[in-house]
Amino acid sequence: MFRSIRGFAFNSLRYSSYSSNAIVQSSTESSQQNVKKTISYIQNLYHEKKPITMVTAFDSITSRMSEEAQIDITLVGDSLANTSLGYRDTNQLNLEEMLYHVRSVRRGNQFSLLVADLPFGSYEVSIEQATATAIQMVKAGAQAVKLEGADDETVRTIKKLVNTGIPVMGHVGLTPQKHNTMGGYKLQGTSTESAMQVLEAAKKIQEAGVFSMVLECVPYRLGEIITQELSVPTIGIGAGGQTSGQVLVIADLLGMQPGPLPRFAKTYANFFDNGVLALKTYAEEVRSEQFPLQEHGYKIKKMVLEEVRKNLEK
Ligand code: KIV
Repeated sequence: MFRSIRGFAFNSLRYSSYSSNAIVQSSTESSQQNVKKTISYIQNLYHEKKPITMVTAFDSITSRMSEEAQIDITLVGDSLANTSLGYRDTNQLNLEEMLYHVRSVRRGNQFSLLVADLPFGSYEVSIEQATATAIQMVKAGAQAVKLEGADDETVRTIKKLVNTGIPVMGHVGLTPQKHNTMGGYKLQGTSTESAMQVLEAAKKIQEAGVFSMVLECVPYRLGEIITQELSVPTIGIGAGGQTSGQVLVIADLLGMQPGPLPRFAKTYANFFDNGVLALKTYAEEVRSEQFPLQEHGYKIKKMVLEEVRKNLEK
């Protein structure tokens, strides 16, 4: 089988001389778990109408959790700014910080497709700047980059990156890096005009060559229509259940930080409260001398101990 998808050529042969585990999956192989996932694997899930799973990770541990759960795509999302790093918003994150986290996630990554966000300020200045930034992301371990928006300059940037050999995931609907011009973090596509704008944006970046796109915070029927209108997968967050896949921010999914969450986030665990409880129990045990016990320590040879004591008596 040989297919060309917007500048990327795939075939189902094994090119073991290209990389240690460069196995390009055919459509019948997308159920294989122990192969490094590629964008053709994601395309195959899409063509087989299998929902695509994506989750963010910000370090080696969260990356390993994504691997153990056999998630299809691990995204080093710039949401790490306002989760792990405690910034007010994603626009405060800089490129060096992002690269540091991409490397960390890469060390925990094995099989899932690794995608990294281009942070605010690292790609908007010029196509040259965007290309240089995306190359750094790839060198740090990303297999693809994600960038927000669909204005003419962004469309040209996507084309350039794809031609350079860097797969691009787009991001339309609510684009948090533009929250200042959008007037906040608001549901998009609520009027006819705005709904058509989101659809047109999705079509423009598809035309530019994205292999998939995040569709954030649009009414679920609009998410369904946009997904039907496209021939690349949509990964929804707050875009309903009819998109080609779903993504959640790992801090929301695991309940890693207190405070209200957006309506579209579902919390599957309670890491923050469980963590605080564990720390309180630890502190109580230290204060009441219940920790550590002998079993947490190491023995010394009787002879050595006696000699140390003798030395002290001298
Ligand atoms: O940065 C991020 O976590 C994201 C997801 C919301 C898709 O872009």
